[in-house]
Amino acid sequence: MDMLEARAIGVDRERMDGKLKVMGTAPYAFEQSVDRPAYLHPVQSTIARGRIHSIDTSAAGRLEGVIAVITHWNAPRLASDGNRELWVLQSNEVHFRGQFIAAVVAETLEVARCAAELVRAEYETAAHDVGFSAGRDDLYAPEAVNAGYPTDTDQGDAEAAFNGAEVRLDATYSTPMEHNQPMEPHTTIALWESDKLTLYDSTQSVHSVRTVVAKTLGLRPEQVHVVSPYVGGGFGSKGETHAHNILAALAALRAPGRAVKLALTRQQMFTLAGHRTPTIQRFRLGATRDGHLNAIIHEVVEQTSRFQEFAEQTAVPTRLMYAAPNRRTRHRLAALDVPKPSWMRAPGETPGMFAGEVAMDELAVACGLDPIELRVRNEPEHDPESGSPWGSRHLVECLREGARRFGWSRRDPRPGRRSEDGWLTGIGVASATYPRYVLMGSRASIRFDEGRYEVRIGAADLGTGTWTALTQIAADALECSPEAIHLEIGDTDLPNATVAGGSSGISSWGWAIVAAAQEFRRRHGSRPPAGAEASADTPEGADDETFAQHSFGAQFAEVRVNAATGEVRLARMLGVFSAGRIINPRLARSQLIGGMTMGLSMALHEESVMDERLGHIVNHDFAGYHIATNADVVNLDAVWLEEIDDRSTPMGSRGIGEIGIVGAAAAIANAVYHATGKRIRALPITPDKLLT
Ligand code: MOS
Repeated sequence: MDMLEARAIGVDRERMDGKLKVMGTAPYAFEQSVDRPAYLHPVQSTIARGRIHSIDTSAAGRLEGVIAVITHWNAPRLASDGNRELWVLQSNEVHFRGQFIAAVVAETLEVARCAAELVRAEYETAAHDVGFSAGRDDLYAPEAVNAGYPTDTDQGDAEAAFNGAEVRLDATYSTPMEHNQPMEPHTTIALWESDKLTLYDSTQSVHSVRTVVAKTLGLRPEQVHVVSPYVGGGFGSKGETHAHNILAALAALRAPGRAVKLALTRQQMFTLAGHRTPTIQRFRLGATRDGHLNAIIHEVVEQTSRFQEFAEQTAVPTRLMYAAPNRRTRHRLAALDVPKPSWMRAPGETPGMFAGEVAMDELAVACGLDPIELRVRNEPEHDPESGSPWGSRHLVECLREGARRFGWSRRDPRPGRRSEDGWLTGIGVASATYPRYVLMGSRASIRFDEGRYEVRIGAADLGTGTWTALTQIAADALECSPEAIHLEIGDTDLPNATVAGGSSGISSWGWAIVAAAQEFRRRHGSRPPAGAEASADTPEGADDETFAQHSFGAQFAEVRVNAATGEVRLARMLGVFSAGRIINPRLARSQLIGGMTMGLSMALHEESVMDERLGHIVNHDFAGYHIATNADVVNLDAVWLEEIDDRSTPMGSRGIGEIGIVGAAAAIANAVYHATGKRIRALPITPDKLLT
């Protein structure tokens, strides 16, 4: 084989699915071709807590074209209530405003929607509580936080060390509730054929949807077939099975022989697909006068739903970022009558590093130190929590490389000094980090036929580039041209694959493909006969944590703030990342810039506003919930250190889906401080906060 062709990893290749998407022929879930589709529209509760007293479906049922109206009175029974979010139409209880209380299946979407509006429910309303605050007397400590991390950690005596420190920073930061808003909403088509269920779904994991749906409905996994070749974004909300998946399956049971289509409306996306918890974070840093940290205390309050717990790991990055002999982290939850919070791009790191990296900027000011120098002085030699050696820690190189490229040395440390035509300008920096995760349980198979290799694994492409990256990894491992690889993903008929979550997808699936390629070559050599096959799992121990394995980065932002109106414009932004080997530079840049864009959106725009009287998100559409648009995304660039991290994966890569958002909002907040001298500790940084 051609040696040049064999270098498939690291090559700038066009997205293989790009042409199909541009031509509109890549089938997303709702567009899958099915015979005689029927349409599902849900009815949602109009109270935030209580019981349904009565529900009148007669007018809806009389409408021409209605196939079925389903309520908790007549819905098929579910088998498992292990996940209360999925206990759909099984009781009269209402846990949050907007919960499914009924659904209509009809011949057209319009009839389904019209009929849904004719369903009348009467409630026994109970007093609801959606008041999120750190002052509540019922905050509690969860058993563990997301991804299994301990809720609390203590090293040394952080309180005493803080109280005795020469320089002390004690500040409270807050981040609002936010909602994942991929362009493609959550969609499912459900079709029963005898006792087998097919779901065309928009998901980050076909196999976990299969497992969860089967368990909830009391089926064997083999009875559930999930298909999801193309996904229009997810950012974590499509990493879990949500109530609409179960609703579609139940509704399809009441419409025999019909494929029942459900797409959440944009407004429903603010209730039924998870959200990022709001946080209130008290940060205390104690340091010597020359900026050596002696105490780090990070105490987080966040929300969960009362009916099902989700605890975000907000303080977890604080456990590893900087050296300090005394350290304390805490997570406390307020259990409220809200939908269950869930994953949103870099859960934990994103809100936690906003607080931590603004706190470091404040400490730099207090010590009279350059913020990069402060970080360099507190660089830990090994993981401060476990004592493990770093697998690869290049934070300082990222900061220095970014400083060089961004022109940091020209920065006047004094805030609020530069103004042009009424716009104050400033630059800021923040660190980023994200763990290297490899999940166990993926399997890849390879078959050689007609001069090409069929590579099969049930992986997901959220729009991230999985189709292309896995093809490159397979070509590299089999030492052939990418054109000789025929990849199949996104279907439970393929070998098992773990979730596209925690930036673990390419690491976990890629490793299975490399293992299968090695097995294939071992069995069949480099001139395989037609029909030659091999398969392998992501190997045992791939999730080994002997080394503390994390990616790092440095975010730089320049902002302009209008002195009269408080309007903030991002002038330019640069991210420098250390994320192991980059599989495809074009896709990587897109992913990293996408993360930074989401971070700038978090910094300046995104906020779900709760009306506490109703338990209702009042700005539940794109008119009221602002997301960064092209006009905001000016002069954004992402670069990376050249690195091959063989400790992390056999590809040398570590995953890049999430680190791009981490630290982005802090860099912008720090730039706003540098521009104006005003320290904004509550996101988003809206003009009103700068004018008061
Ligand atoms: Mo990502 S929020 O771990 O799907």
